[in-house]
This record gives sequence, C-alpha cells and structure tokens, in this order.
Amino acid sequence: MNISQARRFLGMCDRILVITGAGISSESGIPTFRGAGERWRDRHVSELATPAAFEEDPRLIWDWYSYRREIVARSEPNAAHIALANWAKGRTGVTLVTQNVDGLHERAGHPEVAHIHGSLWHNRCTECDKEREDLALLYPELPRSPCCGALERPAIVWFGERLPAKTREQALAAAMDAEAIVTIGTSGKVATAASLVRIGKLRHAEIFDVNPEHSCIEANSRFAGLAGEIIPQLLAA
Ligand code: OAD
Repeated sequence: MNISQARRFLGMCDRILVITGAGISSESGIPTFRGAGERWRDRHVSELATPAAFEEDPRLIWDWYSYRREIVARSEPNAAHIALANWAKGRTGVTLVTQNVDGLHERAGHPEVAHIHGSLWHNRCTECDKEREDLALLYPELPRSPCCGALERPAIVWFGERLPAKTREQALAAAMDAEAIVTIGTSGKVATAASLVRIGKLRHAEIFDVNPEHSCIEANSRFAGLAGEIIPQLLAA
C-alpha cells in the first residue's frame, strides 16, 4: 500500500497496535542505540545495559544514565510524537507500546503509553523492587531507596532481563487482536518489537513499517523516510 491507501486502511481498523523504537526520538536529538548512542566512554551499550555491569560499577552506570537524562531533558517531542498523540486521542482501539524510555510520548500528550523497556525517570530499589519517579539529572551520591535505604538502580529492562509482566501481557494481547500494526523507528533487532509483529502477522494483521533504513520488521508495507515526515501524513488526525 502507498501512504494514502494505508491512511484509509488504518481509518477503517478498530484495533491498531503501534510500536515505537529509538528512531522516533532521533529527530528530537536523542541518539539511537544502533546509531550514535551505540557507544559511551568507549563502551558498547550491550556492556553497559546489564545487571552485571551495574553490580560491578554502579557509579559508572548511573553516570551513563545521568548523561542520557540530560540529553532527554533538553529534548522536545517532535512532529512524529505529536501527530501520533493527536491521532490516538481522537480514536479508541489504539495501543501504543514503546521500547523508548525517554517519556517523549507522554510529553507530546499521548493518552496512554505501555513502557515495555521501563522509564528513564524511575528508580527501582535493589532490595525490595519498589519503584519511584525521580527527575534528578545528576547523583553526587548514588540514589538510595526511601523505603529501606538500599541502593537504587534505573527502572529499565536490561539485556537478559524479563519484560515487566503486566506490560508484556498488554502488548501480547494487543498484538494477538490487532487488525494493523504500525512500527516506527525500530531496527527490529530487539526481540520485543520483532516478536510482537510476528504474532500479529500470524493472526493476519497488516504490518506497516516507518523507517528511513530497511529494518528487520516483517512488514507488508514500508514507508522509507523520517518519522517526523511520514507520521503526520500516515496518521492525519
Ligand atoms: P535501534 O537503535 O536499534 O534502531 C533505531 C532504528 O530507528 C533504526 O532502524 C533506524 O534506521 C531508525 N531511525 C533512525 N532515525 C529515524 C527517524 N528519524 N525516523 C524513523 N526511524 C528512524 O532502536 P530499537 O529498535 O528501538 O533495549 O532498539 C532499541 C533497544 O535496543 C532499546 O530499547 C534497548 C536497546 O538494546 C533494551 O534496553 C532492552
């Protein structure tokens, strides 16, 4: 389908799953994981985003998250976040699942967002798993949980960790039920997006992918371009 056909098709669907990845935030100045954000202080993200790296050097990992929080705090939602939020506000039956932890969908006014990889703005107690919002950019002292004083870690899903159960179930249900799935700015190399799409496809959902590069998403229709240009056309409110 071309963009006009896809827009009409989506207009007729009652249940749509939208999955966003790092690429939707790149026009807001947030580096993608398989782009400029792949390395920090000469380390690969796959070495940093792990429970073992945190255990070994929590200061290093919190500094990496401070660096990322500072970038996101300076960023604004872009045309893609805003068009998606306005479109979703005017309909029922849309589920948004994001791999992003930046919170830009909420800042664009998106009504409900399933954060499948956690949130940059939440800390989790390493003892009792209690989570709390914390908007601090820097931690001169490592953050400690108000509940028991134990060290806190970023409330983010790291490599090798399970997705949060409730969000995973919500995402799975939406994929099983969707008439259409729209993926935006994901490489499809992380199991989360790829497996939801595979489930949707098995259930005969129509898959649309928005990405300037050829992603690994098994799409029926591909729109090769920047999310900030394509989404306002595809999802005109
Ligand atoms: P990636 O960083 O793997 O891929 C970003 C994708 O966005 C690439 O396919 C780019 O071509 C595309 N892209 C770049 N700019 C774009 C733009 N302006 N518009 C549309 N697309 C654009 O991001 P994800 O697939 O989301 O996981 O994977 C990120 C995950 O990998 C993170 O959530 C994190 C990391 O491992 C965990 O921490 C579990």
